[in-house]
Parts: sequence; structure tokens; C-alpha cells
Amino acid sequence: MNKKIKKILSKKSKTPIISLTAYSYNIAKIIDKFCDITLVGDSLANVLYGMKSTHNLSLDVMIRHGISVKPAVKKSLLVIDMPKGTYDNFKSAVINAKKIIKKTKCDAVKIESNFKNFKIIEKLTKSNIQVMGHIGFTPQFKKKFKVHGKSNLEAKKLLKDAKKIEEAGAFSIVLECIYSPTAKKITESINIPTIGIGSSVYCDGQILVTDDILGISGFYPKFVKKFANLSKLIEKAVHRYSQEVKKSIFPGKSNSY
Ligand code: KIV
Repeated sequence: MNKKIKKILSKKSKTPIISLTAYSYNIAKIIDKFCDITLVGDSLANVLYGMKSTHNLSLDVMIRHGISVKPAVKKSLLVIDMPKGTYDNFKSAVINAKKIIKKTKCDAVKIESNFKNFKIIEKLTKSNIQVMGHIGFTPQFKKKFKVHGKSNLEAKKLLKDAKKIEEAGAFSIVLECIYSPTAKKITESINIPTIGIGSSVYCDGQILVTDDILGISGFYPKFVKKFANLSKLIEKAVHRYSQEVKKSIFPGKSNSY
């Protein structure tokens, strides 16, 4: 087993696993210093390309961003999302996962659960592909954002799904927007690490979209904490630049040859 995956597994119930998204080299270089997992998430459809959903993102675009991120990732585990429609059946799932891994040299792929694709995960892991699962709010299959696992019935179903994903051989599962007691129960009931996003401190690790924590995405649901307000900083810098060009202050002598 990949050393980096072993390290992630060893943190279960011991040390919080730190994860963030990266879509490009410069951001990945910073993320890699502090994170255990760097995810090239398909959220890049919304965040970078301004798409309304992640549904029309192509495999080639994901691969391009994976190729951009890879040289910056030295110590963290590099995971790349498989876009919607690229793992609908055994054959395409294996072909496309292998293509992602071959072209980007990532460590693992992530696939979202549609409540039926456990056998797809099994097929991938049996083909020596490391898989991260994703349950709860799964944007590739659900339109409306909501908290999952509040009712007993939903909580039981999510726990069952998490166990099936573990049995299928996944090395970890993202829990997205899952009611805190349910996330806790799932985390305590499986042997692989859970990585939460909007799913409480009871998960084995946390992930957020980097552009959200930096305050540049414009998307700030309750589970996001803005650790910076880069939008404001960028606006200020661009405004100063525009003023200086307008007044012929920039470029000055020190910027000229
Ligand atoms: O696409 C993404 O960025 C994700 C994370 C938010 C978990 O799936």
C-alpha cells in the first residue's frame, strides 16, 4: 500500500486529518505544507469556471488541473475527483480512473455515492486503484443543498452506505453536510477515516474548499469559516494599480529599463 495512504489510515481516531482543495500549482504549493490531503475537487466547475453545477465538467479539464497541481505536491496525498458520468459502469470507471492516475500521477480518486455504486468502488479497488468515497450531500447527484442524516431512517441508511463503501475497499470517506450525531456514529462505526465538510468535529479529519476559506469564492454556507478576506485585498490592489496607471505613477523608474 502507498506510504501516504498508510499514514492517513494511521491517523484514524488519533490526529485530525487536514485537507483542502487545490486547482493550481501556486495554491497547491502552500496547501501541501500544511495538509495531509490535497484534493483536486470537481468544485472547480463552480469556483473556477463559474458553472452552476459540477455536472458538465469534463475528464480532460480535471486532468489538466491535476497536472498543474501535481508538481507542487510533495508530502500530502493527492486525490482527484472523478467527474460525473465518468464512472457510470465498471468499464468506464476503470478506464477513466486509470487515465487520471496515469496522466496526473495522483495517489487516489474520489467518487460520489449515488446509493448504488458500491460495486463500482469495489471494481476500482480490486484493480489496485485507491478510492475515497463521498456520502451525504453529493453535488453530482443532488440538486438541493440540505443537511443529511437528521431522521433515524436517513441516519441508518448513511451508516449502512458508509459500511458498504468501507467493505468495497475505499481508504476513506468524505462526509458532506451530515448531521453531527450521525457523523459521529458513522466515524465510530467504521475503521477507515471520515473526512468531514459541514459534518462536525466528530469526523477523523476536515476538508474545505480553499477559495471559500480565503474569501474569494462568494459561497459561504454556515459550515465555511472565512480565514481571510482575499476578495477585499485583491480589490484594493487592483484599484491601486488602476489609479497608478491612470495617473502615470506606474510604471515608475524602478519598474522600467
Ligand atoms: O469538489 C470538492 O471540492 C469536494 C470537497 C468539497 C469535498 O468534493
